[in-house]
Amino acid sequence: MCGIFGANNGRPVASKLIDSLRRLEYRGYDSAGIAVVGAQGLDLRRASGCVDRLAAVVRDDRPEGTVGIAHTRWATHGAPTDVNAHPHAFDGVAVVHNGIVENHAELKWWLSDLGHEFVTETDSEVLPHIIAKMRRDGMDHRQAVAATLEYAKGSLALAAVFEDAPDRIVVARRGSPLAVAISEDGAYVSSDPAAFDAVGGRFTHLEDGEVAELTRGDVWFDGADGDARRNRWEPVVLPQDGGDPRAGHSSFMAKEMAEQPDAWSRTVASARAFAGVEELAAADRIAIVACGSSYYAGLMARAWFEREAGLACDIEVASEFRHRGGVLSERQVVLCLSQSGETADTLAVIEEMRAAGRRTFALVNTARSAMTRAADRCWLTDAGREIGVAATKTFTAQVAALVVLALRVAHARGRIDADRLEKALDGLASLSDMIRQTLALEGRMASAASAFADRRSAFYLGRGPAFAAALEGALKLKEIGYVQAEAYAAGELKHGPIALIEPGVPVVVVAPSDHLFEKTLSSAQEVKARGARLLLLTDAGGAARAGRLADDTVVLPGADAWAVTVSAVIALQFLARHIATARGLDVDRPRNLAKSVTVE
Ligand code: AGP
Repeated sequence: MCGIFGANNGRPVASKLIDSLRRLEYRGYDSAGIAVVGAQGLDLRRASGCVDRLAAVVRDDRPEGTVGIAHTRWATHGAPTDVNAHPHAFDGVAVVHNGIVENHAELKWWLSDLGHEFVTETDSEVLPHIIAKMRRDGMDHRQAVAATLEYAKGSLALAAVFEDAPDRIVVARRGSPLAVAISEDGAYVSSDPAAFDAVGGRFTHLEDGEVAELTRGDVWFDGADGDARRNRWEPVVLPQDGGDPRAGHSSFMAKEMAEQPDAWSRTVASARAFAGVEELAAADRIAIVACGSSYYAGLMARAWFEREAGLACDIEVASEFRHRGGVLSERQVVLCLSQSGETADTLAVIEEMRAAGRRTFALVNTARSAMTRAADRCWLTDAGREIGVAATKTFTAQVAALVVLALRVAHARGRIDADRLEKALDGLASLSDMIRQTLALEGRMASAASAFADRRSAFYLGRGPAFAAALEGALKLKEIGYVQAEAYAAGELKHGPIALIEPGVPVVVVAPSDHLFEKTLSSAQEVKARGARLLLLTDAGGAARAGRLADDTVVLPGADAWAVTVSAVIALQFLARHIATARGLDVDRPRNLAKSVTVE
């Protein structure tokens, strides 16, 4: 979380910094700021809110200078105010930071005793103070930043500029990601190489604990292998698509939802060719470890590993799994699942598993990410870049890839023959058509949403994979519609949650007409009997069996219960999006969230 960008390119950099921040805004949009260093010294501009607000501040009062750093913030310590916005500066040093300085309180006491005064509520403000102190103690710029990395505990990616050295940026990282690039005109630093799309050239990721200095023409790395690592630069791949980034859609979320049929097809095709699946097949148990929507994708696909492949499958929340000290069997495989490939807790699981000598597996959507580098074996979903904070196409792509993996494991374990595998995979691929048919239900879901628009709470019910779909649907409504939406396994209703049902409360029931349909319908009847407003998502057979029970019944496409459940996920994306839009909310940038959760 938080996006860092810096440029040293011999030209006035303010506009470049702000344009590049826009590409990093998915990492946080609580505030933004830049620091430019030039003949006039250090010049800072900061504004709470999104990058557009900063752009408005800078438009009429542009700082001059050819070296600068920039930041878009997701607040951890201190409210999202102007004064808490980065960069933070002290004594001719300005710093932008991504991560958490865990011992900031102790560091503030220490520095306060030395006469330093702090003006923000942030943890990050200690960083320019430490660097300035190290400079006063006689260290050069790089040494001062390296020493700061020693003093500050926690995760850090930082970039610093100096009033007394207006020709360089010093950068460092531990834990949080940071990459540097060299193009024809200068040197750049960014939290995400995607921001280098606008500069071209070549880039490399900073190693953990590494410090580097960006001059106009080069990047200098500290450490013995500084020269050797020059061989590890990769070319910046410039994007082919120009024009309207939302491709005519009202939001990135709308565009990304519409891309689901293609994302599904591409991912099924890639997963059919994933190398190394036999390593999963040799396991005696699998743990899928993830956060948020990725966790729900694991939950939705679990039955395929258990029923088809005969492989016990646990689904674990990464932040719980890593601290629980659970017992893994000798041949248990841990598969980490992440759209971004940067989620701190999921990444930590990979690192901790590696440190314990286990082979590590990841399924990730972002090819240039920390997890793709960290895992021994990384498979890629092929959903394309997702910008909207709410996972949509990456969720369905994760489900597709997991089901292909499960089927291939089933085949490798001798539970299905090659013919049945191919038929099942072809059937799975053909679900892209069903996804298209579901997308055609947008108007239908918009009208279903109108009954929810003024409600502060909602309940979602389902069983088996449909419970996972309910969880995912409720998460979508929480994060973009700010509705207290809770999902329950339908069988759990009578164990407490039914006490919350009162007349008019919306209840969404996901019920494909499978062997569990009658049981789920009983739960629907129980909430209906207590006055709930019932929205039933089912297939044609289910709709006929439910009759007039629900206030609103949406008939979903899908040849079997599994397909209907996939279709329900997409219908619930529409439901959340239309509720959020009716409330006038920004579906791409919901409050308090960021696309990539790089702090624990
Ligand atoms: C999904 O809509 C959320 N934005 C969020 O729960 C997300 O899935 C979670 O943060 C995990 O992210 P990852 O897949 O990038 O690891």
